Amino acid sequence: MASIPAFLNGEYLPLDECRVSVLDRGFIYGDGVYELLPVYKNNAFYLTQHLERLQRSMGEIKVDSPYDNSEWQALINNLIQQSEHDDLAIYIQITRGVAPRDHVFPSATQATVFAMANPLPIIPSEYLENGVELITSNDIRWQRCDIKAISLLANILAKQEAAEASAVEAIMIRDDYALEGSASNLFLVRDEVVYTHPKDNLILPGITRDFVLELLEELGIECKQQRIPKEWLYSADELWITSSSKEVLAATKIDQKIVADGKPGEVWRKTYNLYQQRKM
Ligand SMILES: Cc1ncc(COP(=O)(O)O)c(C=O)c1O
Repeated sequence: MASIPAFLNGEYLPLDECRVSVLDRGFIYGDGVYELLPVYKNNAFYLTQHLERLQRSMGEIKVDSPYDNSEWQALINNLIQQSEHDDLAIYIQITRGVAPRDHVFPSATQATVFAMANPLPIIPSEYLENGVELITSNDIRWQRCDIKAISLLANILAKQEAAEASAVEAIMIRDDYALEGSASNLFLVRDEVVYTHPKDNLILPGITRDFVLELLEELGIECKQQRIPKEWLYSADELWITSSSKEVLAATKIDQKIVADGKPGEVWRKTYNLYQQRKM
């Protein structure tokens, strides 16, 4: 099997040769941030937006970016060139670095920078034909879900709950509102209007979410960024989840209840088709 191209602290090397210290604060505390960006036909998709979000995440956790945007771009392009695949999922992780274990920030520690270029997972055709299944899950995450932090324990527990229920995603419910998925954003169609939670501290500002909002504008479909009451999930005309690896998927079941007529809806289909045209 071909090796996965990777980057660690200034060096390009195969993934299986990357080594970090057990004292890395990413390992000890989950003290770091990450980014995942899709590459289609050797072109990084919405690169500027992904890099902006990465810089913002670093700023919010007070880690100085080790590189400027042109250096990040060069790093990403090098990984694209080194990969045998044309469609990739590039994962970048920055941690606060290696230091003796202490909650307080170390005074002079270099951030650890790691990146890898995996083949982009193929979306099963069954998901597109039949839609996917969702569950709801009580949102036990912290109050800064807008930061793309590597500490994902609550998301992992929710996703596992979904997997054990043979569902693809868990929708996070806080105070009776449906916010987003454990690793995706949520869209709901009701009476020909599309709803999604506004950008605030309770959701990750998904790049795919922004892209879908642009597509909806182009399609002339009304969209409201407002809170979604949990009970709307069960009377929705359509439900979708969006993410860099899932693109836009229709959900046809939630908490074992069938969404509308149980088939991916027409608004989803239009949006999905335009997505496929515009993503290249
Ligand atoms: C909690 C959460 N929300 C939303 C998303 C979707 O973000 P994007 O569209 O940038 O992949 C992700 C992606 O990993 C996520 O983890």
